[in-house]
Amino acid sequence: MISPQTIQQITNRIDIIDVVGEFVKLKKRGANYLGLCPFHGEKTPSFTVSPGKEIFKCFGCGKSGNTITFLMELEKYSYVEALRWLAGRYNIEIEETEVSAEAKLHQQAAESLHIINGFAQSFFSQQLWQTEEGENIAQSYLEERGFRKDILEKFQVGYNPQSRTAFTQAALAKQYNPELLVKTGLVVNRNEELMDNYRGRIIFPIHNNTGKIIGFGARVIGKADRAPKYINTPENEIYVKSRILYGSYFARQAIDKNDECLLVEGYTDVVSLHQAGIENVVASGGTSLTTDQLRLIKKYTNNLTIIYDGDSAGIKAALRGLDMALEESLNVRLVLIPDNEDPDSYVNKVGTTAFREFVAENKKDFILFQLEIMLKEAGNDLNRKNEIVNQIAETLSKISKAEDFTKQQEYIRQCSGILRIDEAGLTTLVNKYKRDRLSKEEKKAPLPFDDAPPQYDNAPPDSFVEPDLFSHDEANEKKILQVLLEYGLREWDEQHTMADYMFEELEQFHFDNQLMERLFEEYKKAYLQGLEPTAKTLLYNDDKELHNLIINITISPYELSQRWDDVMENMHILDRDVSREEVTSSLLYFKMKKIKKMFDQNQQDMENAKTFEEQLRLIEIHKDLKKIEMDLIKKIGTVIMK
Ligand code: CTP
Ligand code: MN
Repeated sequence: MISPQTIQQITNRIDIIDVVGEFVKLKKRGANYLGLCPFHGEKTPSFTVSPGKEIFKCFGCGKSGNTITFLMELEKYSYVEALRWLAGRYNIEIEETEVSAEAKLHQQAAESLHIINGFAQSFFSQQLWQTEEGENIAQSYLEERGFRKDILEKFQVGYNPQSRTAFTQAALAKQYNPELLVKTGLVVNRNEELMDNYRGRIIFPIHNNTGKIIGFGARVIGKADRAPKYINTPENEIYVKSRILYGSYFARQAIDKNDECLLVEGYTDVVSLHQAGIENVVASGGTSLTTDQLRLIKKYTNNLTIIYDGDSAGIKAALRGLDMALEESLNVRLVLIPDNEDPDSYVNKVGTTAFREFVAENKKDFILFQLEIMLKEAGNDLNRKNEIVNQIAETLSKISKAEDFTKQQEYIRQCSGILRIDEAGLTTLVNKYKRDRLSKEEKKAPLPFDDAPPQYDNAPPDSFVEPDLFSHDEANEKKILQVLLEYGLREWDEQHTMADYMFEELEQFHFDNQLMERLFEEYKKAYLQGLEPTAKTLLYNDDKELHNLIINITISPYELSQRWDDVMENMHILDRDVSREEVTSSLLYFKMKKIKKMFDQNQQDMENAKTFEEQLRLIEIHKDLKKIEMDLIKKIGTVIMK
């Protein structure tokens, strides 16, 4: 763990313009900087960086965040990786906090494995390119298959010589620990003798997302008659098969750009497609996709295209478990390569353009594809067909996000067509499965806004009314937080800050929106610890939901719009201190809303009241509420009149 002091040091040094400027060409516009968004293709800039608030927002695609989330989004770093990158950039020495003994051991082992793998990679490359055996046996094989040298070098492909101990000797001479050597899978222990595991094989290193080598795939040269075609790294501290997508390190930017990830089976498919200029491609190793792998893909894109050879045993494996891709809102399509070819041989045969065209023209939706396969297998078996209807209904019921509603409707229409059943009937069945699951699962509290924010263009809005990111109910709650973040530290009276005043006024209330409640509590906690919380400081914690909320609260399109900035400057609107009015009115509206809710609740209770006494009691409550409401309305009147 990086110590809080180091994090503090790093965040103090951060200059968002400097960091973002490394990736995006920025031009100064008013108080802000403007550039072409690196997250989506655009010709007119709508990517805005505010150095004062240390945040960025693109009004084209909606992405927003601070310096750290910028690095996480663009470079696909984890939070800690982003911090390390920044520390490196600003020459800040990283101080690690005490970790548990177990975690320390794990970390040390992981580091050693990385080091050994790095050494092995350079050894294997050297063997491939600079030895006679490498040239005669391995280079000639790779050449025959049509791999270019520059691509092999990019993927750091290598060769392990045939001698039983070539690598083992070299590694032991370097004093690497024998136990760790065995752990990497590079060396095996046979009857107390250490020897190379990948003798006479082509070596494909497997990189993690920061480019470090976590394992290898070792292919026999030529046909695999006796030995297995590939030997893979055993699971260890850094090689966790369920999380690996071969090639993701080289593909991530292309996937982002194309907004599509191609998934193939093998190492050689990835390398060949790269060579053909198709770089948004990763390999699964032919097994069924895991949730971790789907999440990894989803970090870059929502569009997954699986490209397998037509009679691969892998298709079924790949399709298994893809229901969870639906829950993650991934659009999955499938392309089958014909005639016993795989992507590697097919692209070599037909060339880049034809390959791309083939993929584009033959993409099939995986649900419809699956349905067709199942129907074909079922033949005339009515029972089986019945099962299929239920199965597809259950699958479709997993499309559950609100924004995917039309997609679900469309599927129901198409599937009922293929199945030749009544569309309304299928809808009912899908809804039944949905209800079943809902009643099983605990309902999760919905987020106040979805992942895809509404789209704005660059023009300044016509009025002060901000596009409503929140349901109307929550607008009042949002306003409270906005005011708190903006003015909380200012003086309310001689002894109190505005935050003090707001805490006191809100003591009896809480937020309906749980995320907003959390932000309120975070602020309060920091404030009571004597820190001076602002949007900026609160953004430096590792909570994505809070991040999004803070950014949506503190930044609004008109505020960052350059033309609007100019208007504001000319009108000197910003000179007038509106903080007191804002604090007062936001509290009043917030309370009004809550009182209204209590009214409704009380009304309902009255309708359900069983005894006369109970009714009387509720009527008293009603009167009290009415009185509070009148007071509030009066106060609001004065605030508005001012
Ligand atoms: N695989 C494996 N072990 C095997 C066979 C295959 O781990 N014994 C995995 C490898 O990740 C391989 C993928 O499954 O890349 C696909 O297998 P296959 O199509 O047989 O290999 P290719 O990578 O296409 O290799 P080549 O083109 O050289 O036949
Ligand atoms: Mn192949």
